[in-house]
Amino acid sequence: MIAKKNLFSSEIKEKVQSLISEMTLEEKVGQMSQFDWGFHAINPDAGGEINLIMKELLDKGMLGSLFNLSGVEQANTLQQQAIERSRLGIPMIVGRDVIHGYRSVFPIPLAQSASWNPDLIRRTASAASKEAASDGISWVFAPMIDITRDPRWGRIAETMGEDPHLGEIMAEAWVDGAEVLDSANESLSVASCPKHFAGYGFAESGRDYNTVDVSDRVLREVILPPFRKAVDAGALSIMASFNEVNGVPACANHYLLTTILREEWGFEGVLVSDYNALGELITHGVAKDAEEACEIAIKAGTDMDMHSGIYYKYLPKLVQEGRVDESLIDAAVGRILALKIKLKLFDNAQVNPDLNQSVILSEEHVSLAREAARESIVLLKNDNDTLPLTKQLKSLAVIGPLATNINDPLGCWAADGNPDDVVSLLDGIKAKISPDTELLYAEGCDIESEDENGFEQALAVVAQADVTIIAVGESKIMSGEGNSRSELDLPGKQRELVEAAIKLGKPVVVVLFNGRPLTTVWLDEKATSIVEAWHLGIQSGNAIADVLFGDYNPSGKLTATFPRSVGQIPLYYYRKNTGRPPGGVYSSRYVDAPVQPLYPFGYGLSYTKFEYNNLVISSTSISSSDSVSVSVDITNTGSYNGDEVVQLYIRDLAASVTQPLKKLKGFSKISLLAGETKTVTFTVTPSDLAIIGVNNSLTVEPGSFQVMVGSNSEDGLIGEFVVR
Ligand code: GLC
Repeated sequence: MIAKKNLFSSEIKEKVQSLISEMTLEEKVGQMSQFDWGFHAINPDAGGEINLIMKELLDKGMLGSLFNLSGVEQANTLQQQAIERSRLGIPMIVGRDVIHGYRSVFPIPLAQSASWNPDLIRRTASAASKEAASDGISWVFAPMIDITRDPRWGRIAETMGEDPHLGEIMAEAWVDGAEVLDSANESLSVASCPKHFAGYGFAESGRDYNTVDVSDRVLREVILPPFRKAVDAGALSIMASFNEVNGVPACANHYLLTTILREEWGFEGVLVSDYNALGELITHGVAKDAEEACEIAIKAGTDMDMHSGIYYKYLPKLVQEGRVDESLIDAAVGRILALKIKLKLFDNAQVNPDLNQSVILSEEHVSLAREAARESIVLLKNDNDTLPLTKQLKSLAVIGPLATNINDPLGCWAADGNPDDVVSLLDGIKAKISPDTELLYAEGCDIESEDENGFEQALAVVAQADVTIIAVGESKIMSGEGNSRSELDLPGKQRELVEAAIKLGKPVVVVLFNGRPLTTVWLDEKATSIVEAWHLGIQSGNAIADVLFGDYNPSGKLTATFPRSVGQIPLYYYRKNTGRPPGGVYSSRYVDAPVQPLYPFGYGLSYTKFEYNNLVISSTSISSSDSVSVSVDITNTGSYNGDEVVQLYIRDLAASVTQPLKKLKGFSKISLLAGETKTVTFTVTPSDLAIIGVNNSLTVEPGSFQVMVGSNSEDGLIGEFVVR
């Protein structure tokens, strides 16, 4: 675990002060500037002023950071140039979006979070950082820990879902895994960069970059907890979000960046803007020009300017005119230099190019990719125990546009992924089944066109086979940044293909490849078995085949609610009761649809059955400083060994401010052999019971509390206790 507070030792701080005392103002603001090298590579002569500033800073050896380089040789060369040209020998820091793996691409974060396995997340984050570091990257712009309740928003794919508590646990694990501080300096150490601070996932209408308008209460109860946990876990940097919070875009929001992050939380790391977010302050309409954007951003607390050039261009002038105190510059540069010293970039910024061979796509990482993919899969439906399939089928048909697809399983942020490294579903199945099985394949249709010409051939193989597996879903560019959707069903003619196949009356298993919750109510009504396979990365096909043919009993649980329709959004489990909970005419209901989700938060089936019995609460009455333990017996009553995510939800029945019907406050993933019983005990502490009361302070208010322990957010054993 990274040291919690005191990110930077006194030795580091002393070195920082001595460097700053020798630096010119221009050198300081150069350190506060970061550019996208990929942009330069695409537009070596175009790209206007941005390129010119980048080149000027590179030539002068004053550039603080570059990102989107390609490969270790380029990183070593540019780093060498930076140090040689820098009057004080200051290295750059090289960044990259390493969101769910580097070359060994792991499942998208929304999928990984469905494993409810923080240690797995820690391991995939660490593997990703090690691969990135071997390419000269020492700053990963991850984890993305935005909370969202809106599956229209394309970046839900990058999140850990809708719940703040799960978000906290995963944020801590990701930061701990991603920040590889390698004392041996075999490979560069790596800094994490939790993002996007804050509230980005609450974009109105689910449209990326759209206005965010949340109360301070929602900000503090829902959005900030994962970031606080990331800071306490030792995050060395944080990225501010594009969106406004309470009317002020994050990179110019003093309340967010200074009052909360620095003064309340004591965060000592670097605060970097998002891509040209300083320039966007003009577009937002909070700065009349770049000079004003520069002034409000530095005064709010943005340390590093990503790819706008505004800091370099205007900070010296603002300081010379006395509009910005140089102490603000020194504080920002100090954090940037401290980060570089902490990462040992001053000691050795060259990476041994041979490291690549032993790290990139190592056997360990590929095996981890398969493990992560298996644990990310969620079994949504399995009537008549159709799954798992026998490997000795006489004949098997595989149809659908995702069956042989090796591109889309890479997911939305896999810049360094290579489709050639991906195992397709068809190949995963081929590797799994008996050579005597007649394996039939036809695509049937593509992902999004209206073309049904392939139906006939596909339905012919379905008719011929004993069982059919249908691979359908979204392309990877239907989620991720800038890719929000207004409808959440299967695109193109995929629904028609699935319905036509089901109509033939043979057993059909539907495998979904998607980057977000879908509103596939019709599928749940018509299919017998549905497997949620997200975009699972390089080992997608093998992991899905492991599940389909019983070599792995699925244990995933949804971390984002699947709504029945877009009209229900936002829909999330920790909703409030309101004064008129859904019921009769004059209640919070729809006249044309139920209010319940298609699949709730925490939902996921297994090939076996888990029975919950004997909920015991250690005390029915406690003081506000006491803890209480809640235990329950879980029995595997089926015939398969399996893993179960036991979930603990708490409800404060009456408080000074309205409380959700339930809040996740604990979970435990346990393995149970067939027939085995285990007792799981949770300790509910005062911090689990504390709420931000009407007076805005965090307190445990007296009153009755309900606990629910179950296998999803909708059903479980219920007990009560009182806080005196
Ligand atoms: C993008 C994203 C951010 C990413 C940054 C650098 O616009 O919002 O998540 O880290 O730019 O690529």
